Amino acid sequence: MLEFSLTPATSPRPESERAQILSSPGFGKHFTDHMVTVTWTPADGWHDAQVKPYGPIQLDPSAAVLHYAQEIFEGMKAYRHADGSIWAFRPDQNAARFQRSARRLALPELPAEDFLEAVRSLVSADADWVPEPSGGEASLYLRPFMFASEAFLGVRPAAEITFCVIASPAGPYFAGGVKPVRIWLSSEYTRSAPGGTGAAKCGGNYAASLAAQVEAIERGCDQVCFLDAVERKWVEELGGMNLYFVQDDGTVVTPELTGTILEGVTRDSILTLLDDAGHKVDERRISIDEWREGAASGRIREVFACGTAAVVTPVGLLAEPDGETVIGGGETGPVTASVRAALLDLQYGRSADDRGWMHRLV
Ligand code: COI
Repeated sequence: MLEFSLTPATSPRPESERAQILSSPGFGKHFTDHMVTVTWTPADGWHDAQVKPYGPIQLDPSAAVLHYAQEIFEGMKAYRHADGSIWAFRPDQNAARFQRSARRLALPELPAEDFLEAVRSLVSADADWVPEPSGGEASLYLRPFMFASEAFLGVRPAAEITFCVIASPAGPYFAGGVKPVRIWLSSEYTRSAPGGTGAAKCGGNYAASLAAQVEAIERGCDQVCFLDAVERKWVEELGGMNLYFVQDDGTVVTPELTGTILEGVTRDSILTLLDDAGHKVDERRISIDEWREGAASGRIREVFACGTAAVVTPVGLLAEPDGETVIGGGETGPVTASVRAALLDLQYGRSADDRGWMHRLV
């Protein structure tokens, strides 16, 4: 297992500045005092594991990632509980998905124990940056990532890879807080195709979603929804979140995993939480017609999106070039609200962790 050396920041943020940031962190705007870096080469494997002051990474202009996007990442959070301890939610799932993404992008796999130790080492160096539990959703967002740092322009898997973890105090992902978001249905663009990288958490998938996201913003929407690339009929996911549909009989439907959808850790956890709450949960294909018609007829009562960053976010409206469909009167529905509360209660240690999903970091 890797051992991480610690070089403490010589000029960490003053406490008053940190307190000001933590009072209203937004999402992804501020970063802690330290970062993790680890290097991989074919000869030495993973080595030189460090926790060091947060700062710019020096990269050769020919570094392969800048040209061919050989890169993957994860999104996780550290939660402070009422007794001051700090916890991660199912980090083993992030470690496992990071390995699956690595395989798809021809990157070396980082052993799960090293992934977890990297996260633990950073959070323990920057523990003061984990917000106090407030009853809201303040946390320290953790971003592990890995990229091709080799200086080489040939197209082949790079022979030098850098793994990093950075951390960013976070409030709600959407600036408006928890209120129903408006979704734009992309008819021109798709996010991923069979055999592609849709199930991997790689930067390229997100880059490919941006033109559609720009369209969404231009139409006054918050997020974009993608359909499958083959029939342009089946609902896949949003730009960075999985989707759930609550029917009038209490059944909850979520698009099945077909290799083109991100295997969300929150998505998976919600399957269990809904089952605990007595809902029938159906992982199956759901067409855009079923969404439109169901929302119009009342068969679909609620739609919500989920992800680590966005937790559980109600969807109030589906907008398309030739019309709009309001979902559940544009309000947050009861199933959405209760699954959101169940998830947050678990993450912040307010309910019993019967499945051992929480992992103590500090
Ligand atoms: C997350 O939910 O953690 C994500 O990675 C989605 C987005 C912020 C890219």
